[in-house]
Amino acid sequence: MILAPSVLSADFSRLREEIQAAESGGAQSFHCDVMDGHFVPNLTFGPMIVAAMRKLTPLPLDVHLMVEDADGLIDSFVQAGADGITVHVEACPHLHRTLSRIQAAGVKAGIALNPATPLGTIEEVIGMLDLLLIMTVNPGFGGQEFIPAGLNKLARAAKMRERAGLEFLLQVDGGVSPSNVRSLVECGADIVVAGSAVFDGSDPSRAAAKILRAAAKHVD
Ligand code: DX5
Ligand code: ZN
Repeated sequence: MILAPSVLSADFSRLREEIQAAESGGAQSFHCDVMDGHFVPNLTFGPMIVAAMRKLTPLPLDVHLMVEDADGLIDSFVQAGADGITVHVEACPHLHRTLSRIQAAGVKAGIALNPATPLGTIEEVIGMLDLLLIMTVNPGFGGQEFIPAGLNKLARAAKMRERAGLEFLLQVDGGVSPSNVRSLVECGADIVVAGSAVFDGSDPSRAAAKILRAAAKHVD
């Protein structure tokens, strides 16, 4: 399992140190939460911060677009150095076109599903996916409580993938902590995103390592 810390909860005045600390704790990717104040009730950052991060880490940058107009932003995030772009099915009426554009721009394409959005909404484009993101909070803010129904949804997504004979990655985002990460792995998560659990304390390196240790440990 890969740990992708979300920099949403990092201290942006010390971004270099925060990123280095998460890396030394075992992070293998970074998750960039882009919010437009329309699709979700919060506003974060755009391609400039992703370009800054590109200079601070060699690890893959996974951009989670929580925006209404994803199509119009794809090229600027790719130019900024994104390795993958994930869009919300709820915000993309022309999902086939959006995924095609992301892949044509040369990066991995992902779809994110809000907690209330059924897995069936991806059926017709499942073969195009590089990644499926199961949200375990309603997007918009870091530090929210994990919605446990996401576990069953994740397990069903893993079955759907197997039945289709596909190999896209399953990512989970929202409320991930050392206490639930093992169950996420057991339900099929390949990548877990963690924001507050990594960056809210004083030592992101230890916090990241703790999540990875918990992910590897069987709890009976
Ligand atoms: C929520 C974001 C998440 C968030 C995760 O809208 O998509 O990536 O930063 O933060 P935690 O891990 O604190 O729930
Ligand atoms: Zn996210």
